[in-house]
Amino acid sequence: MTGLGMVNAGITTQLLLSLFNVIGVLHFGIAGNANTELEIGDVSIPEFWAHTGLWVWQRYGDGSESELPLESNGDYTRNIGYLKFSDYNNDTTTQHNEDKDNLLNNVWYQSEEVFPINTEPETRQHAFWVPVDNNYFALSKQLEGMELERCINDTMCLPRAPKVARVERGVSADIFVDNAAYRNFLSSKFNVTPIDMESAAVALICYQQKIPFIAIRSLSDLAGGGSAISNEASTFTPLAAQNAVAALIKLVPLLASKGTSVYSS
Ligand SMILES: *[C@@H]1O[C@H](CO)[C@@H](O)[C@H](O)[C@H]1NC(C)=O
Ligand SMILES: *[C@@H]1O[C@H](CO)[C@@H](O)[C@H](O)[C@H]1NC(C)=O
Repeated sequence: MTGLGMVNAGITTQLLLSLFNVIGVLHFGIAGNANTELEIGDVSIPEFWAHTGLWVWQRYGDGSESELPLESNGDYTRNIGYLKFSDYNNDTTTQHNEDKDNLLNNVWYQSEEVFPINTEPETRQHAFWVPVDNNYFALSKQLEGMELERCINDTMCLPRAPKVARVERGVSADIFVDNAAYRNFLSSKFNVTPIDMESAAVALICYQQKIPFIAIRSLSDLAGGGSAISNEASTFTPLAAQNAVAALIKLVPLLASKGTSVYSS
């Protein structure tokens, strides 16, 4: 168990890679769901992960045409996109809500500086979307259709049987998202399914260390986007956690039988 958040997940991953002869990393856990085609209890396996908590918070008065601080040094970029706070004003007393500005202005998403081990030392690269291992991802297709737990107890079951779904993207940050507007932003801007607080940190460490990696994240709540009056995680976490483990247990022997790198040395 890494403990909550990006630093815990990153340091745990690096410690394991430093202390043991690790051949591949299978990370698992629960997540909020931003994908309207999936439901609580489903297990998502994204092909790409990004850390969405590294921002440039732009000064008031600047806009999308304004260069960011240190942009010309290559430290920061406007290529990934931004969240504009005034798009989320809810001042029902103003008629032209769309014209209102907001002192919080914009935050711009940034890629991580990475230093992969097989590249020139001390020379930074940047990474935003980090792919999972191709082989692992291809094998995980065989999990689609597997049977998962549907009921949290004798009387309460999910509306349909949960499923494993390979999806395009997941994101992580040191933020527990329980907010419909931000969930919808992440979904429409980045086409995200799971929103969690660790997987991208594990992905980034594995990317730099050139270790195959995949993350299995079951969906325990709707990240603030549901009709429930409170976050669903307190009810569905045990079921979701159980389903993530079930998928993981099914994946491990597939890796071995395919002769992929888990047992190759
Ligand atoms: C905006 O705020 C008002 C109360 O101030 C609330 O009744 C309304 O539902 C809010 N609108 C949205 C879209 O949430
Ligand atoms: C089943 O779980 C639901 C949701 O937590 C709860 O309201 C209900 O009392 C539980 N039923 C039983 C029989 O434990």
